[in-house]
Amino acid sequence: MEVWEIAGIKIQKLHKTYEVPGKQVPVFCGLDLELDTSCITVVLGKSGCGKTTLLRLILGLEQYESGEICSAEGLKTGIVFQEPRLMPWLNVWQNITFGLKKKEIDVQKMEQLVAMTGLTGFEKAYPSQLSGGMQQRAALARALSCEPDYILMDEPFAALDHFTRKTMQDELLRIQREQKKGMLFVTHSMDEALILGHRLVILENGVCKKTYDLEARTYPRDLLSEDMIRIKKDMMKTIGE
Ligand SMILES: Nc1ncnc2c1ncn2[C@@H]1O[C@H](COP(=O)(O)OP(=O)(O)OP(=O)(O)O)[C@@H](O)[C@H]1O
Ligand SMILES: [Mg+2]
Repeated sequence: MEVWEIAGIKIQKLHKTYEVPGKQVPVFCGLDLELDTSCITVVLGKSGCGKTTLLRLILGLEQYESGEICSAEGLKTGIVFQEPRLMPWLNVWQNITFGLKKKEIDVQKMEQLVAMTGLTGFEKAYPSQLSGGMQQRAALARALSCEPDYILMDEPFAALDHFTRKTMQDELLRIQREQKKGMLFVTHSMDEALILGHRLVILENGVCKKTYDLEARTYPRDLLSEDMIRIKKDMMKTIGE
C-alpha cells in the first residue's frame, strides 16, 4: 500500500478480476472510494458484489491489476472478518490479547473490552464452547485490543440477536465518538447502515453506484422519521428491491 499524505485511505480506478476455472470474474472495474478515518463508512451491496474483496484489498491480502490504494502514513488497521476466525487452541482472553506483546497488555483495558463485548466470565472458555455470536464478539474485542486507527468490519453483527446487535451498535458509535476511530463497516442491513453510517456506499457492478452523506444527521437515529424513511426508500430503489 502506498503512503497518502491526507488522513485516510484513498482508492482510485481500482480494477480487480478473479479467475476461476474456465471463467474470469470481474469484481472491481474502476472503483473510486475515499475513506475518511474520522467517520463510519458503511458499504452495502448484493451478495458477491465484492465487499469482502474490498476489505482484503485494503489489507493487502489480495493483488489487483491496476489502480491505486493509498493509505495515510502509519495508519494502523484492524479487521473483523465475516467469520470469527478465532484460534481454537486459545481461550477467549488469549485470543483477544493475541496481537499484543505480554508487557503491552493493560489488564484493566482488556477487562473493559471483555465486559463491553459481553464476555465477562468466559475469559477462560475456548471458541468451541462459545455460541456463534459470542465468537464474533470476541473477534471484535480482538480487533479493538490493538487500538487500531481504522477498523474494517465485514458484517460483524450478522449472527447476533436483535438485542445484542443493538448493544454492539451503540458501543461502536460510542467508540467512534470517544476515540474518533474511523471504520469501514459492511452490512446487508439497510437499517444497520442508517443507524451507524456517516456515509453510505452502495457497490454494484464493480463501482460505487451511489453514496449517501449522512454526516449532518445526529445519533441516535430514528429509523421511523420521515427523513430516514425517505433515504431508505431511495436506497431500496438503488439496490433494486
Ligand atoms: N479467492 C477467490 N477466487 C475466485 N473468486 C473469488 C475469490 N473470492 C471471491 N471471489 C469472487 O469474487 C466475487 C466477490 O466476492 P466477495 O466475497 O467479495 O463478495 P461479497 O460482496 O463479500 O459477498 P457476500 O455478501 O456474500 O459476503 C464473487 O463473485 C466471488 O465468487
Ligand atoms: Mg462477504
